[in-house]
Amino acid sequence: MNQVITHPPGSLELISGDFKGKDILSLDQFSAADLYRVFALAREMKELVLASQPSQLLAGQLVALLFYEPSSRTFGSFAAAVKRLGGQTLDIQNPEVVSSVWKGESFEDTISVFGAYTQAIVLRHPLPGAAQRAAEVANVPVINAGDGNNEHPTQTLLDLFTIYEQFGRLDHLKGLLAGDPLNSRTLHSLIRGLALFEGNTVYLLSPEALRLTREDLLALRSRGIEIVEIHSEREIPTDCHFWYWTRIQKERLSSLDEYQQLAAASFQVTPALLAERANREMILMDPLPRVGTIDPAVDSDERAVYLRSQIRNGLYTRMALLALILGKA
Ligand code: CP
Repeated sequence: MNQVITHPPGSLELISGDFKGKDILSLDQFSAADLYRVFALAREMKELVLASQPSQLLAGQLVALLFYEPSSRTFGSFAAAVKRLGGQTLDIQNPEVVSSVWKGESFEDTISVFGAYTQAIVLRHPLPGAAQRAAEVANVPVINAGDGNNEHPTQTLLDLFTIYEQFGRLDHLKGLLAGDPLNSRTLHSLIRGLALFEGNTVYLLSPEALRLTREDLLALRSRGIEIVEIHSEREIPTDCHFWYWTRIQKERLSSLDEYQQLAAASFQVTPALLAERANREMILMDPLPRVGTIDPAVDSDERAVYLRSQIRNGLYTRMALLALILGKA
């Protein structure tokens, strides 16, 4: 199933300035003001980390990190965020193997159990909608750390924070979003986030087979963001503020053959492409992992932020979000 889940009106609890105790399932819960609240606190968290200042803000709080899919950044940054703030984590990676899921326990029972031990659950799952289902049964807040090809809202917090820190605004920006719009949950959430601000345009560069579904394209355009689909590097506008490259989501495809064909038709950032189509002020982003997206020869370019500020901002924004959700800020 490729279509981005569209949440029926009323099915998601809006944040509306009050984060305490809320599930974080979709970018659709946020207003621009909610995002700025996270960013203001993320800046404080950044100062705290850079000063190596100890914090007890989350002392006594235990957060379950329940990851049914592999992760480096999301898992690592959530674990670091809780610990940097003096809290503790209950780490369950691969619950199918290391928990009673292996014995046939239902998803709902597993969520109820970990909800009983902790103050919040951070959940990654291969199925779209899994975080919403977890939120229905858990008695603690559930944070969606990526549900299949649906959404990855906390990735978007760090992505928007990175863009905001660079340009000082989130409106009237032009972005190139390349790779796998069909399956990339980071793109699905990022477009929703950019649509909260006026005057934004995104160019989607992908092989034909990895375009957004027509239904999703129309639904996202109806939010007011301009979305232009392009099919070759020659069409990349040279005045983009940011490039955001995503890998082809191999795990969402039906066969290795299909992946190899799509990989052969996909696009890669190289020093030559940057020299030809990018301006000096833009930033180059990638949610990572980097698989065929960006030539390592680009890493030393000062515009490449994916292994620098973008990755660090994942820690600061997740520290901020946890503090808000747990009612400590
Ligand atoms: N960007 C991201 O979600 O990376 P991980 O899959 O390593 O968490």
